[in-house]
Amino acid sequence: MFSQHTQVYRGLLRELKRSSLPPHKINPALSSNFRRLAEQARRSNSVLEDLTNALIFLAAQREHRVLLDRYNPLVDLTAEERIHATARRVLRCDPTSISFDSTGKPKVTSQDTLNSLSIAAKNLVDLQPVAFPTETVYGLGALALDSSAASCIFSVKGRPPDNPLIVHVSSPDMLHTLLPSSFKMPQSYELLMRRFWPGALTLLFPSDPNTIPSIITANQPTVAIRMPSHPVARALIALVNAPVAAPSANSSGKPSPTTAEHVRRDLSGKLNVILDGGACDVGLESTVVDGLQEDGKIRVLRPGGISVEDIQETLQEGIQDHALIPQVLVHRRDYRDKELEAAPTTPGMKYRHYSPAAPVTLLMTTSAPPEKVVPSKAESFLISLKNEIKPSAFVKFGVLVLTNSILGTLTFPVVDGVEWLRYELGPVDDPSVTARRLFDGLLTLDQQGVDMILIEEVTETKEGLAIMNRVRKAASEVRWITF
Ligand code: TXA
Ligand code: MG
Repeated sequence: MFSQHTQVYRGLLRELKRSSLPPHKINPALSSNFRRLAEQARRSNSVLEDLTNALIFLAAQREHRVLLDRYNPLVDLTAEERIHATARRVLRCDPTSISFDSTGKPKVTSQDTLNSLSIAAKNLVDLQPVAFPTETVYGLGALALDSSAASCIFSVKGRPPDNPLIVHVSSPDMLHTLLPSSFKMPQSYELLMRRFWPGALTLLFPSDPNTIPSIITANQPTVAIRMPSHPVARALIALVNAPVAAPSANSSGKPSPTTAEHVRRDLSGKLNVILDGGACDVGLESTVVDGLQEDGKIRVLRPGGISVEDIQETLQEGIQDHALIPQVLVHRRDYRDKELEAAPTTPGMKYRHYSPAAPVTLLMTTSAPPEKVVPSKAESFLISLKNEIKPSAFVKFGVLVLTNSILGTLTFPVVDGVEWLRYELGPVDDPSVTARRLFDGLLTLDQQGVDMILIEEVTETKEGLAIMNRVRKAASEVRWITF
């Protein structure tokens, strides 16, 4: 039978051992102090009481830690990091657990997803911005009809205030609450919405200044509206039951995010909630269309997820009288508008866009060079590149290439002090894969700390048009090469 003081003393030694880091050695100074106290405890009840309390305290601490370990994955973080991490949450949403009834009301079968959506919806209603997935890219959403909520978008992104926002709706009914009563829907819009909504098509509508705050339209007479098809985006908008303004969820000027991780890396600390619904399907932003001009023509202000070919086909199939089929014009390809180009309303015109930290060089491999430009041989171009940028240092080049193109199948030269980091953009004949991978490619290579990114041109048909639109804006230099 041990005396009480011996039991307490041994208990204390056990707790000290458990509370120390592996290999669980007790600090000798502590141990000798406790031995001395234990000796005193033989003679004094109050010292015994103090030691017993110390034992209870240490045991409670250990139990608390075990509980934290079991329930809190953030236990290894410092207190400050823990506050940061729990306050700025990435919340999982399973898109396959969400369905919609015929009125657009969402049904969510996963409790976790419902919780995440509810937290995000509460933030939106409290006028806080929230990042969420759409089928195109991740959006940074805020209530569109509340100026102060919408203004947060500009501060989080560092977005210039004269660049208007797209308003997202979850149903045709919600769209109609935004339109002026006098507005008559053009037949072209009816056809395009029937075919592409919900989806990656943004349409310009006349803006009713009594409904749409001027911060959304940047004082333009029009407002850009789309109905996203991503279940998480639609469900979130339906839950708040109000239109949500959302630009891409990246700092202004950077490539758009296509995963929750891209958003976290860029904007973490500036947001309460990032909903993670997996990688975006389309990977490029929506196509922005203006069909409001008097001539009835369809003007593509920004090529995007819905191809010009698909828009043309929809109009041709839907309009019986061939004379009435509107022409589809792509800005900068089919028409120029100097005044428009100076204005920030034309997507990606006035401001720097899609640029990672590393400079991007566009490699033209199939298009004919402009007059007086002599293409370089691929091999010699690649060998000389290091000398052009950092002759005396180690250089990492990121290379975005198509899997089966001539450049993509080329063995890159071994050059002293050069590392080639390759990221594949999919096969030549499937631009939808390239669209899905482009922004991830730029962001991944940037994350890997490359000094320069080389990117191969793609053919400008279907998604290729939107891809090259983004690549041209990302690139600070264009070079022509031959094989
Ligand atoms: O796919 C998308 O469109 C994504 C997702 C989140 O929905 N959003 C997006 O938003 O790309 P943002 O802000 O990054 O690009 C929207 C572009 C802007 O560049 C702006 O110039 C143009 O749409 N825009 C907005 N309102 C406009 C208007 N009234 N007239 C002309 N262009 C407008
Ligand atoms: Mg953007």
